[in-house]
Amino acid sequence: SSTVPAFRIANLALAEAGRHQLRLAENEMPGLMALRAEFGESKPLAGARIAGSLHMTVQTAVLIETLVALGAQVRWASCNIFSTQDDAAAAIAVGPTGTPEAPAGVPVFAWKGETLEDYWWCTEQIFDWSTEAAAAGETWTGPNMILDDGGDATMLVHKGREFEQAGAVPDATEADSHEYRVVLDVLRRSLATSTDRWTVIAAAIAGVTEETTTGVHRLYELAGAGSLLFPAINVNDSVTKSKFDNKYGIRHSLPDGLNRATDVLIGGKVVFVAGYGDVGKGAAEALRGQGARVIVSEIDPINALQAAMDGFQVARIESVVEQVDIFVSGTGNFNVIGVDHMLRMKHLAIIANVGHFDNEIDMAALESLPGAVRVEIKPQVDEWHLPSGRSVLVLSEGRLMNLGNATGHPSFVMSNSFTNQVLAQIELYCYPEKYPVGVYVLPKHLDEKVARLHLDALGVELTVLTPAQSAYIGVPIDGPYKVDHYRY
Ligand code: NAI
Repeated sequence: SSTVPAFRIANLALAEAGRHQLRLAENEMPGLMALRAEFGESKPLAGARIAGSLHMTVQTAVLIETLVALGAQVRWASCNIFSTQDDAAAAIAVGPTGTPEAPAGVPVFAWKGETLEDYWWCTEQIFDWSTEAAAAGETWTGPNMILDDGGDATMLVHKGREFEQAGAVPDATEADSHEYRVVLDVLRRSLATSTDRWTVIAAAIAGVTEETTTGVHRLYELAGAGSLLFPAINVNDSVTKSKFDNKYGIRHSLPDGLNRATDVLIGGKVVFVAGYGDVGKGAAEALRGQGARVIVSEIDPINALQAAMDGFQVARIESVVEQVDIFVSGTGNFNVIGVDHMLRMKHLAIIANVGHFDNEIDMAALESLPGAVRVEIKPQVDEWHLPSGRSVLVLSEGRLMNLGNATGHPSFVMSNSFTNQVLAQIELYCYPEKYPVGVYVLPKHLDEKVARLHLDALGVELTVLTPAQSAYIGVPIDGPYKVDHYRY
């Protein structure tokens, strides 16, 4: 008999509320629904055992049920301690045909407000398939696919295998974060019960599809070091992902998070946006739309020039920190906003991070700053009294505040991202011969397909090339319409 719990969520009684939201979301996710119609019969993901680590939201619930409709088995955890929507998690655990008394859904391990220990416990659960194996009378015990957001699930497999090969988990060093110590503890316990658990899992994984900029960055690092263990599809760099979700998604969910957290009037305020990549562009546009005076910072001269041409002041944080009312960070870098900056900030300046990890704001230094006192205003909103005599408001403890303080990006834009995710899962699972170990992006015809699936819902009338026009510009009538290096 197995000791693996069937799922762990906040409250099964929320399933009905979650199911209503899923139903509404399905109407706003035409790409995913089109894939259900196209592949629901043929079930290309039959036999796929997907370990998913991605914000357990309403939109993700529609993704999960799409993967299941295409034949996959799924285990799921959130990729952030604050991003789970408990009603969506309940709906997924109960499933479309189950009841709270007799849940019949997907094994999901996620609730809003996990500790880091909970978080890594949940992540471990998506790799334990002993219940499914026993039910199927099979000898495998792990997944054969990963669907990742930020790379934590992929990292756990790589670190686990690395330490198994080395025969030991190293002691934590001074420099290691609290979170990394938790990971080391998880793997130390794992190594005490099995010397090859992660090695076996790594060998069985056909591939990973990665959702976000930061996770993709980790994958290229692994590939560059020659230590990537399985093929990966970079979903982020589909045009219909990063140029839509990262930009238009943030344009919606950043102000949503600011409003729900503080309800401070954005108009007239001075807002500082660190990073003018896809996320920064969406953030700056949204805040300007609310009437804020937006100042951007960049390290890249091209992006800095773009920001200037778009009409934004571009400055270093040091030069403007005293004037700023709201700080937004979306760089994917670390220590972008430090304690020295915080000590110079206005009273009740707001600090909001939308980059993937919490170290973008130097939270560790803030937490250990002598004399700094934290007062919780409400969940995910903390006032930090500083030795400067002033205080700052930190949202979601420095973690993704558009998911921690609001509900993340809305369904329609996530349909684009997740349609790419499903197509990427199909590619890696069904056509392994096309993808030796390495990091790939989806071919352009699939990227264009994702966009096409979202046109009707918006009443978009697409112009069709005439044969003569097609010959004149040398572009096929059915695409692909652009060369691979076209930048949109
Ligand atoms: P990107 O690479 O397009 O943009 C990041 C920009 O930050 C770059 O232009 C870079 O030059 C700049 N930058 C780096 N270090 C900097 C520093 N110290 N100061 C100022 N600028 C700096 O990446 P993208 O797609 O905009 O993603 C940014 C982060 O947001 C990533 O961590 C990504 O995973 C995350 N993300 C979060 C989402 C959310 O829902 N909150 C959605 C999508 C991505």
